[in-house]
Amino acid sequence: MQRRLHASILLAAGCYSAGMASVVVRPATRVHGRLTIPGDKSISHRYALLAAMADGSSTISRYAPGADCAATLACLAALGVVIDGPRDAPHGDHDQRIVTIQGRGIGGLAPPTVVLDAGNSGTTLRLLCGVLAGHPFDSVITGDRSLRRRPMRRIIDPLSRMGANLSADDDRPPIVIRGAALRGIEFTPSVASAQVKTAVLLAGLLATGETTVRERHATRDHTERAFPVFGVELTRHDGAITVHGGQRLQAVSLTVPGDASSAAFWAVAAAALPHSDVTLDDVGLNPTRIGYLSLLERVGARIELLDTTELGGEPRGSIRIRHGGNARLDIGPHDVPRVIDELPVLAALATHGGELRVTGAGELRHKESDRITALAAGLRGLGGRVDEMEDGFHVVGDRRLQGGTADAAGDHRLAMAFAIAALGGARPSEIHNAEAVDVSYPGFFDVLASISVS
Ligand code: S3P
Repeated sequence: MQRRLHASILLAAGCYSAGMASVVVRPATRVHGRLTIPGDKSISHRYALLAAMADGSSTISRYAPGADCAATLACLAALGVVIDGPRDAPHGDHDQRIVTIQGRGIGGLAPPTVVLDAGNSGTTLRLLCGVLAGHPFDSVITGDRSLRRRPMRRIIDPLSRMGANLSADDDRPPIVIRGAALRGIEFTPSVASAQVKTAVLLAGLLATGETTVRERHATRDHTERAFPVFGVELTRHDGAITVHGGQRLQAVSLTVPGDASSAAFWAVAAAALPHSDVTLDDVGLNPTRIGYLSLLERVGARIELLDTTELGGEPRGSIRIRHGGNARLDIGPHDVPRVIDELPVLAALATHGGELRVTGAGELRHKESDRITALAAGLRGLGGRVDEMEDGFHVVGDRRLQGGTADAAGDHRLAMAFAIAALGGARPSEIHNAEAVDVSYPGFFDVLASISVS
């Protein structure tokens, strides 16, 4: 297989300062190769939090390598949790980073002496609020500039109803949490959000009585799958999830599957470029996360799932993706929760010769960036035709991208989506603030270089 370096991080003066990096992505005719994807971010957060609340020592293998999951560990350490790692597996395999977490038992976190810093990670902040709401001490949690503009009323309301006192100026972090004895509630989130659902269920573990979350639209269900693995009983019936407070969690040894959302970048690149053939090994195949695979099939890609199995309640296996065409896609409000994190890269797919219309996705404006405005601006900067709507966008891939510049706006998924779009450019493109990939996929550009064929 021909391999060449197609992406290079420009460290020259003017292109790199104060941690800012621009990356040049060269056009590719196809992508080809077999890869292992870093561990899943959503699952890693959950395993770490549950391990911290369990009795005994848990070992998590293939813990997600990005800054987001590191922030969860740092916050837990500030709450008195003894953590060893992440360290490479004994055979030196970087893909198998291991973390050992000494659980403090249910309700056993220690009062922090510092402000907790969730960095760029909404999942860290919202899930920890659920945990801290049920601990009898005060804490403050904040994050970086992006996180400090994200809405928190969605967790403040239900956790306050449970008996905690949470306050935040303008409903944005920092959040001051005055933990209390919680009582179970019945709650129907007004936005489809796995983070909100999980915050309430985690608080439910520390509450008296039953806590039920009813979902109008199913969101990723890693929490529901992880609870029983840690020995927590929970019932799921017709979109309602119920947990009893006061259960003890048991320590476990678990391996996180590869991140389905990170895999999506390579899957889309293979679907977009003729003669591509990529196999991604040991990826999470949770149905709430792989909605994008059926969309790729709909545009003509050939997808095979291989060696499928289930471990720790999570289905996983290899995915082989081959190019097979470019067609029009419509994604409406009902489909959005299943592909919420993949919408930027599906937009990139459409620039390769298809068309994509997304509606009912106003939530994108509350992600790491305003993912509608920043996505449209970046794709236009690369030469794409994109219309922005209040709750979505429309990409028409009726012309080859000329190539140009796109600003990732501090958003990891935008940096990667722009790179996948840029593969189809007539000339090399430059992505500004590309270091954002470190939030979920350090090494992304090296992998891109290794599978791109010019
Ligand atoms: C996540 C849930 C989603 C997703 C985010 C991770 C999680 O956010 O966009 O990247 O791990 O629970 P929302 O719950 O805000 O939709």
